[in-house]
Amino acid sequence: MAELVPVEPFDIVIFGATGDLARRKLVPALFHRWCDGQIPANSRIIAAARDDLSTDDYIKRAEEMVLGDGSSETRAERWSQFVAHLQYVAVDATGDGKGWKELAAALDSNPDKIRLFYLALPPSIYGSVCDAIGQHGLNTTKSRVILEKPIGHDFHSARTVNEAVGKVFPENAIFRIDHYLGKETVQNLLILRFANTLLEPLWNSNGIDHVQITVAESLGAGTRASYYDRAGALRDMVQNHLLQLLCLVAMEPPTSLDADAVRAEKLKVLRALRPIKAETVSKSVVRGQYDAGVSLGQPVEGYADEVGQKTGTETFVAIHGEIDNWRWAGVPFYLRTGKRMQSRRSEIIIQFKPVPHDIIQADAGVLQPNRLVIRLQPDEGVKLMLMTKDPGPGGVRLRYVPLNLSFAETFEQGYPDAYERLLMAVVRGNLGLFMRRDEVETAWRWTDGIIAAWHDGACPLHHYPAGTDGPSQAALMLSRDEREWFDADTA
Ligand code: NDP
Ligand code: BG6
Repeated sequence: MAELVPVEPFDIVIFGATGDLARRKLVPALFHRWCDGQIPANSRIIAAARDDLSTDDYIKRAEEMVLGDGSSETRAERWSQFVAHLQYVAVDATGDGKGWKELAAALDSNPDKIRLFYLALPPSIYGSVCDAIGQHGLNTTKSRVILEKPIGHDFHSARTVNEAVGKVFPENAIFRIDHYLGKETVQNLLILRFANTLLEPLWNSNGIDHVQITVAESLGAGTRASYYDRAGALRDMVQNHLLQLLCLVAMEPPTSLDADAVRAEKLKVLRALRPIKAETVSKSVVRGQYDAGVSLGQPVEGYADEVGQKTGTETFVAIHGEIDNWRWAGVPFYLRTGKRMQSRRSEIIIQFKPVPHDIIQADAGVLQPNRLVIRLQPDEGVKLMLMTKDPGPGGVRLRYVPLNLSFAETFEQGYPDAYERLLMAVVRGNLGLFMRRDEVETAWRWTDGIIAAWHDGACPLHHYPAGTDGPSQAALMLSRDEREWFDADTA
């Protein structure tokens, strides 16, 4: 039975409180944790942005996002109690702008109370906001800063941001969010690998043929198109979410689950990623962009129309990655992510080596290699695909069946959303679910290499209709290696 342990009282300042992330994810996450009794009564939420709003105005805006149209009476009642903890302050978060005095007054003066600064802001101003926090003396020894991804848009800008933030906050007070690390199944990856003896002996190039990591979205760039068009799928998804998943699959066993022990092992994986160069980019990377099509039964426009102009930004990317170390030599890690794909699904598929010698007669059916399928969303779960005999008379007929652990069925009461878990982890000071500076910068070095190779080598942008699994070239990339992409249902 899951146990909810309340955290210590805290004050949280959400800079960028009128933005998409704050309204869609952060305020609802805090509300849900409060409803579950995890947030103590004397905690406070200070919503900060530049708009001149009253607290009541802000609450009305937030309410639309949290309660929507059809909320139950109990939920509405809980919301009206929750908002007693909420206050809005109009602040220009950079420099000497307005509102800092009011912000200081809104914060608890007790220096021992945990204080969080959540920067749901454009990353370009992270440094100046931290500087302003320091200048106004708001940074107590119990303060923590939470930085949203992306940290910078390449290695150099990430380093600049990290240095600026590091002048005000020590590394152990900096929580760099990758919300994938807060997902239930992602956390379970460590347990699956390191709390069972079964998998570890096979978890290397002797036992594993290849790994596939897919994060597919059915949505398009939508309201975030102006940000997305500057980022693209590689910066938006691969540099962080997909590489974090790859690290958790590929890392060596850490000495403990201590944050730095885990992060040190992830860093070694990132450092061992083979650089993709201009000479190899056309074989190792496929870039795509969606055109108009049909998504989830509805006609939708193409990406360029959403952005309002012709653009070369990729909304899909597939990569053949290699990890140059003893454990993974020769094992491809295929990464794939895209918007407006057939369905929303994030999954990791580990394909084991085939049996060394086939003793089953040919007419019994096709002998398939074992696959471990880890589904992160939706319908979270893990299944191990095994060959068995179809029961009953009539000779041997092979059947490929799952040994199934569906979390949705097993844990009926559900579990908190990633942002809920991550916010509580920051209050607890648990850095293990966040990225360390060197991880972020090393991940950028690798993705920067790919971007440079795109410019120097041949890596055309292939178009795909919205609502499909990306350009056919992604399938070709695997078929050249005599492999194919799977999804959790077809694996
Ligand atoms: P939005 O553009 O929707 O919101 C940005 C917010 O920042 C607004 O509230 C804006 O309010 C505020 N802001 C901008 N400049 C200042 C300033 N000088 N002082 C005070 N407030 C300022 O962005 P998102 O909410 O989408 O994203 C925020 C961050 O989270 C970004 O770094 C983004 O990359 C990241 N992120 C977002 C995700 C999402 O799903 N939205 C997912 C993952 C990461 P105002 O202009 O009124 O001051
Ligand atoms: C964000 C990206 O980090 O993750 C978005 O910026 C993307 O573009 C989102 O849509 C996907 O998150 P999730 O949890 O819905 O898979």
